[in-house]
Amino acid sequence: MPVISAPHAFNESQLYVDLEPIFGQSLYLKCEGFNFAGSIKLKAATEMVETAEREGVLKPESILVESSSGNLGVALSMIAASKGYRFLCVTDSRCNLSTRLLMEALGSQVHVIADLDANGGFLGARIDYVRALCDSDDRYVWLSQYTNPGNWKAHYRKTAPEIAQRFPKLDVLFVGAGTTGTLMGCARYFRQWHRPVRVIAVDSVGSVIFGGAPGRRMIPGLGMSMRPPLLDESYVDEVIRVEETETIRACHRLARRGFLFGGSTGTVVSGAMRWLAEHDTRDLTAVAIAPDLGERYLDTIYQTNWLQDLYGEDAFSSDAMADDPWAADPASTRSPARRPHLQTGDAGDQRHQHQNRKQ
Ligand SMILES: Cc1ncc(COP(=O)(O)O)c(C=O)c1O
Repeated sequence: MPVISAPHAFNESQLYVDLEPIFGQSLYLKCEGFNFAGSIKLKAATEMVETAEREGVLKPESILVESSSGNLGVALSMIAASKGYRFLCVTDSRCNLSTRLLMEALGSQVHVIADLDANGGFLGARIDYVRALCDSDDRYVWLSQYTNPGNWKAHYRKTAPEIAQRFPKLDVLFVGAGTTGTLMGCARYFRQWHRPVRVIAVDSVGSVIFGGAPGRRMIPGLGMSMRPPLLDESYVDEVIRVEETETIRACHRLARRGFLFGGSTGTVVSGAMRWLAEHDTRDLTAVAIAPDLGERYLDTIYQTNWLQDLYGEDAFSSDAMADDPWAADPASTRSPARRPHLQTGDAGDQRHQHQNRKQ
C-alpha cells in the first residue's frame, strides 16, 4: 500500500475495464482518472513542471500560467499547491463549474474567457490572454501544453509502457485527441515497439485537429479549434470523428452499468465501438484510454436540462438510444468468436492473429 507525502506521487496505472459485457465488443478501457488530479493530465503536468524546474525556468517566485479547458488546470493547481508556486489558469466558459471550483479550492486563480475567437473556438483568445500576461510580468511562466514536448514525453515514458506491459500482444489502440500529447506519446512509443500497433485517433465532430470545418463543441477535453503543434500525422494510422450526441449516449450507457466516466471517454468508446463493429475483430486485442471520470460532468452531460437545451428534447429518448449500433442487449450480440480469451492475471497473454492490419 503506497504512502505518499505529495499528491502527484500517486497514480493508478494498471486499471482496465473490460467493456465486452456492456457493448458486446472486446475493448479494454485504461482508466486514467484515479489520482488526486482526477485525470490523465497529471502525467503531462508533472513532466512539464519537473522539466522546467530542472532547466531553471521555474523559480520559487515564478507564477505558473496556462491555458486549459480544465483538467490540466486542476493538475497544475494541485502540483503548484504542493510545491508552493502560484498558478493562474486561463480557461473558457465551456469549463465545467466543478472543475473551476476545484482549481480555486486548490488555491489557484482562474480567469474565464467568454468570447469566441475568429475560428469559432476560445483557444486563440485564451492564448492571446496568456501571452499578454507573460509580456506584462517576468514572473509568469507559461509551460504551454500545446507546444511543450514534455506533454507527449509523459505518455511516451508512462502511459504507453504501462499498456505495453499489460497487453504485450496489443493490436489496436484508440486515443482521444486534444493537444495530442497522449496520442503522440503513445504513437511514438508503439511505432518503435516489437510488433506493429494500429494507433487510431478519436476526435469530436467540429474539431479541426485533422482538418475539416470548425463547428460547435460543448464537451471539454477532446478536440481543438486549431491544428495542434504537437501533432505529426505520420504516426497516426486512422482518424475517427464522433458526434457529441454519440459521445453522450456512450457515457450514459456506461453510467447505466455503474461506470461514470467523463465526456472524452464517451467519445473514445463510441468511436472505438464503431470501428470494432466494422472490422473483423476475431482474436484482436484492443485498448482505449479513458482520460477522466464523470463527476465533473454531473451538471452537463449527466444533466437532462443541459442535454435537452443543447441537443433537443428527443436526442436522448429511449427510441434514439435504441438506434445506437451497440445499444442492443449485449448478451445477444456477444459471440465467443469475437472475444479473445482472457487469462486471469494477464490480459495480453493470448494467442492471436491480427486480421485487419494496414500493410
Ligand atoms: C478529459 C480529457 N480528455 C482528453 C484530453 C486530451 O488529451 P491530450 O491533450 O493529451 O490530447 C484532455 C486534455 O485536456 C482531457 O482533459
